[in-house]
Order: sequence, then structure tokens, then C-alpha cells
Amino acid sequence: MNNDILKVLYSKEEIQAAVERLGKEIAQTYAGKTPVVVGVLKGAIFFMTDIARAVDSYMQIDFIDVSSYHGATESSGTVELLQDINTDIDGRDVLIVEDIVDTGRTLKFLLDTFADRGASSIKVCTLLDKPAGRAVDAESDFIGFKVPNEFVVGYGLDYDEKYRNLPYIGVLKPEIYTNN
Ligand code: IMP
Ligand code: MG
Repeated sequence: MNNDILKVLYSKEEIQAAVERLGKEIAQTYAGKTPVVVGVLKGAIFFMTDIARAVDSYMQIDFIDVSSYHGATESSGTVELLQDINTDIDGRDVLIVEDIVDTGRTLKFLLDTFADRGASSIKVCTLLDKPAGRAVDAESDFIGFKVPNEFVVGYGLDYDEKYRNLPYIGVLKPEIYTNN
């Protein structure tokens, strides 16, 4: 699997440092509160488990599964709710934990959905932000790294459901896409 990687963008250590920094920012923001922290499956699972343990604050955790990619490297433009949270978020502070914000369509869908359900506040923590990819207005409050407009894999992020278990974030060799 490591042989498929062209270059490492963020090492395990750099990711850990970003997680610690974000954890402190989030703990300050929610001091005295108990937010519902919602991880977006499957991409955010590794980030979610690390970030939750880096935040010294009470919290509830839940997961939601949405899909917009269907195994390709470009967003299809539609967002589908595959598995919902089971927490009632009416009147609650919600923190969405994402792996990456690209077009912003997934995030916009989640922000609209949680606002409709009466969340009293909604904030977003994303490990990666790809501002050049933005098609709709959906911004994050806590950002790990701003990434160039390249397709990245690892630490939860997949290409065709693979590479999620790489402990770092990297860019695939071009032949991996052309051989598929
Ligand atoms: P958006 O709806 O276009 O903002 O995309 C959000 C979702 O697309 C993320 O949660 C990822 O699952 C996926 N995605 C976007 N960019 C990448 C990438 O560079 N690598 C892997 N997955 C990505
Ligand atoms: Mg994905």
C-alpha cells in the first residue's frame, strides 16, 4: 500500500500536532457546555477518535454517514443520507467533525439538516480544507490544514474505499488512477 504513494503531505506527527492544537481550541469554545460531536463516516473516523480524546470537555458523540462521491475522484453533486445520528439535537450545541471540505456540498447538507432540527449552535471542525474546490458556501470553524487542490488519501480518506488505514496523508501516484 505504501508503494502507491507519490508523496507524503502530512506525517503522523504533523497530524498529531494539529489534533492537539484543535483540541485546545475546541475545549475553550465549549467550556461549561456538553456539545454533541458528530463524526462524518467513514472518512472522519480516525480524526474523530483522536480529536475527541484531545478535547478536555464533556461531550456526547454520534456518527452520520453521507455519500457524495461513489468511488470517483470528483464530487457527483448530490448528497445522500445513508445513516442518521440517533441523538435529538434540538436545542443542542453541535460540532461536526469532517475529514475534508472540498466542494462544500456535504457540509452544506449537514449544516442545513442540523439547523432544520433546531440545533442551538453548529460549528465545524475539519482536518483538511480545500478552498480551491469550493462550489457552495460552507465554511469551517476549526481547520487542521489547508490543502492544495489535489486528491489526497490516508488517515480516513479513501480512494475507491482503499488507503483509509494509512497513518499519514499523502498523494497517490498518477498510475493508480489510470490503471482503474
Ligand atoms: P465535498 O462535498 O465536495 O465538500 O466533499 C466532501 C467529501 O468528499 C469528504 O468528506 C470526502 O469523503 C470526499 N473527498 C473530497 N476530497 C477528497 C480527497 O482529496 N480525498 C478523499 N476524499 C475526498
Ligand atoms: Mg470519501
